Amino acid sequence: MTFDIDRVRAAYPALSDGYAYLDGAAGTQVPAAVIEAIAAAYRSGIGNVGGTFPASARSGVIVAECRQALADLTGAHPDGVILGPNMTTLTYRLADTLSRGWGPGDEVVVSRLDHDANIRPWVQAAGRRGATVRWAEADLATTELPAAQYGELLSGRTRLVAVTAASNVVGTRPDVAAIAAAAHAVGALVYVDGVHATPHVPVDVGALGADFYATSAYKWSGPHIGTVVAEPALLETLRPDKLAPAPEGVPGRFERGTAAFADLAGVAAAVEHLASLAPPASETADAGATAGRRRQRVLASMAAVEEYETRLFAGLLDGLAAMKHVTLYGKAARRAPTAFFTVAGRSPRQVAEHLAARQVNVWHGDNYAWELAGALGLRESGGAVRAGLVHYNHQADVDRLLAAVAELA
Ligand SMILES: Cc1ncc(COP(=O)(O)O)c(C=O)c1O
Repeated sequence: MTFDIDRVRAAYPALSDGYAYLDGAAGTQVPAAVIEAIAAAYRSGIGNVGGTFPASARSGVIVAECRQALADLTGAHPDGVILGPNMTTLTYRLADTLSRGWGPGDEVVVSRLDHDANIRPWVQAAGRRGATVRWAEADLATTELPAAQYGELLSGRTRLVAVTAASNVVGTRPDVAAIAAAAHAVGALVYVDGVHATPHVPVDVGALGADFYATSAYKWSGPHIGTVVAEPALLETLRPDKLAPAPEGVPGRFERGTAAFADLAGVAAAVEHLASLAPPASETADAGATAGRRRQRVLASMAAVEEYETRLFAGLLDGLAAMKHVTLYGKAARRAPTAFFTVAGRSPRQVAEHLAARQVNVWHGDNYAWELAGALGLRESGGAVRAGLVHYNHQADVDRLLAAVAELA
């Protein structure tokens, strides 16, 4: 397995502008192959689905290929791939649908570690149904989300557990499989936010125990499209609000209005991009022969991405930890390559401005990890600075960040 960072970076036209793109956690750049796939869809002539003419059929093929690509990325069944504009919209839709059967006495468990998109839709749905919300707490010293606490939080009344596969600020990757096993033991469903995890690690929804797994393609080199995957048989049991003439079947009845067909072509191209990031040496020469084994290729490729990012991130963390004027948040044993830090005497916004002036893109604020930022005491002081790595970052990006932060001593 090879990870050729120069080859990877050359795939991204935007990276030639000279900036260090450490803002990938808020959305990645897009490789030429994805841009081309979107343009090619429009160029070929596409129509709405279900018509009698070739342009309509082309859109039908794009939708089917997109579902298959997302199934290959996550280990789901293509008939269980729900497509939509983004994770937040889909999660609100699922929360509305799943909460139909909840009532007083029922319970949902959310976590303080999560992005608000995997908290508020459940809290608000529970509120409408008179159900009780229980909170899993992050250990603030380590930012771990201890799985053991779920023993206390779960009961025969728990209907749903919502938990993240990775924190979008401190990077913590909780033991989702253990949490899901405990939830399933009491008959609860498990809704996993995979938005931050998916760009960094191989994903297997079966191994995670996720009844629902959400991810957004714009976090892993694709266009602004979200998906939630689930077992088709589970989706068959649910009745979302839908228009009368809209599809009755699964997953179509969870999808609202006309899809962004050209973007869906870009999603499939982005999965193919991920699958080809780290080709085994023997396969680079014969891409055609590997096309049918995309699930295996994406798993192997993402394992190489995880290894590459982990190594690069260790240097970034060591560099920041060595600076006395920097306070780092996040110490989880298993984590995505995302650093969250403050700088003495400067607001997070001032730090981000200083970095932007040196061509380093980072985010500042609570980054919608609103509960965690509050628990860490950072919400009122403007949050913290977030610098995140993705597979196209290289050592020069890390070096530039560290040099620019060092200037603030
Ligand atoms: C961990 C996590 N969950 C959910 C979301 C929301 O995703 P979307 O923008 O697709 O609604 C984000 C976006 O930043 C995120 O990082």
